Amino acid sequence: MSLSGKRILLIIGGGIAAYKALDLIRRLRERGASVRVVMTAAAQEFITTLTAGALSADHVFTELFDRNDEHDVGHIRLSREADLLVVAPATADLMAKLANGHANDLASTVLLATDKPVLMAPAMNPRMWAHAATRRNRATLGKDGIAFIGPGRGEMAESHEAGEGRMAEPLEIVAAVEALLDAGPKPLAGRKIIVTSGPTHEPIDPVRYIANRSSGKQGHAIAAALARLGADVRLVSGPVSIADPAGVTTIHVERAREMRDAVEQLLPADAAVFVAAVADWRSENSAGEKIKKVAGEGPPVLRMVENPDILAGVGHHSQRPGLVVGFAAETQDLLRNAEAKLRKKGADFIVANDVSHESGIGPSGVMGGDRNRVRIVSRAGVDEWPEMTKDEVATRLAALIAERLKTTVV
Ligand SMILES: Cc1cc2nc3c(=O)[nH]c(=O)nc-3n(C[C@H](O)[C@H](O)[C@H](O)COP(=O)(O)O)c2cc1C
Repeated sequence: MSLSGKRILLIIGGGIAAYKALDLIRRLRERGASVRVVMTAAAQEFITTLTAGALSADHVFTELFDRNDEHDVGHIRLSREADLLVVAPATADLMAKLANGHANDLASTVLLATDKPVLMAPAMNPRMWAHAATRRNRATLGKDGIAFIGPGRGEMAESHEAGEGRMAEPLEIVAAVEALLDAGPKPLAGRKIIVTSGPTHEPIDPVRYIANRSSGKQGHAIAAALARLGADVRLVSGPVSIADPAGVTTIHVERAREMRDAVEQLLPADAAVFVAAVADWRSENSAGEKIKKVAGEGPPVLRMVENPDILAGVGHHSQRPGLVVGFAAETQDLLRNAEAKLRKKGADFIVANDVSHESGIGPSGVMGGDRNRVRIVSRAGVDEWPEMTKDEVATRLAALIAERLKTTVV
């Protein structure tokens, strides 16, 4: 049982999705966790302490000033006698309270007093989720180290509205709990996997460079997801503004040629996943000094030369890893280009994503944004995945890689 002996403190907030928290209690206990429940006053308008108590096989805690509880199990003990705190559903109100340090009931006091990791599963009306105040609180909590799962998109139970704000399903929350407690299965233990991520910067002179819009979010998420499955991940990252993922060895590079050298030095490996948006070209001669603007001389002419093709290089390498996965960011003829790339570059899979404005993914698009819609192109055909977060794409791709490597002997 993946959560055997783990202690979860589940805080149930006051939203319609509180009924799903009851199923979550069952799912966590099925996996061997013990679950203690705190319910807010509003939560008790939706479900009863009786049901939560019966499912958790424990007393349900509701009051901050409860003579019996404070004497027996006070808010400090509640907050510490757990391996992980899960807030599901996390209401807009609970998020606002924790983001601003309020502690005026048992749930918020426990959240502020804890020294344990906290996972929130928000659930609310799409307009509440999209409100600037909720966006701010979400960002603050993220910076404070609070982990999040969801919300997803879909039909809202109460309002016949659809949009982002639906609580993650209990099994998705369980998977996030397993990941946070590092308790999930480790099918990639003993496997070395190289991942590249981010853009490359190709210098024009010491202060100017050619870049692209890649943020590194997708590549970093894949590195983290592979590490969660037990892989020894070596991430070669171009210049990005996001943090190195936990549990991963990260090598920082700037130019395409540095990225190629770093990747080749890491061979042999069991698999390699090339997510980085490597510049196809660089300026032939990068100037040693800053190029000056000289009156009457006009703009400098940059002659471009081709950069090494890292994916093709590894795809045809004498030490080619057993599994080679490439990414194809295309703005037109997505599938035709991905299929051509598969053959030309010696890859097993091409993850094709449409980075055009027509992809319909959010205002920031795929590059730099948080969502992605991909197709997995292999010799077996094309598998179209629905739009999801980059973390979800990463988790699913890591599972696919684990599945493929299962048949290869370590
Ligand atoms: C029918 C109904 C449904 C509600 N659903 C939600 C919800 O899904 N998410 C949310 O953040 N608030 C929802 N609310 C508002 C909260 O119940 C309210 O903000 C409450 O103060 C939250 O308290 P708590 O954060 O202490 O649980 C709902 C209210 C009502 C009356």
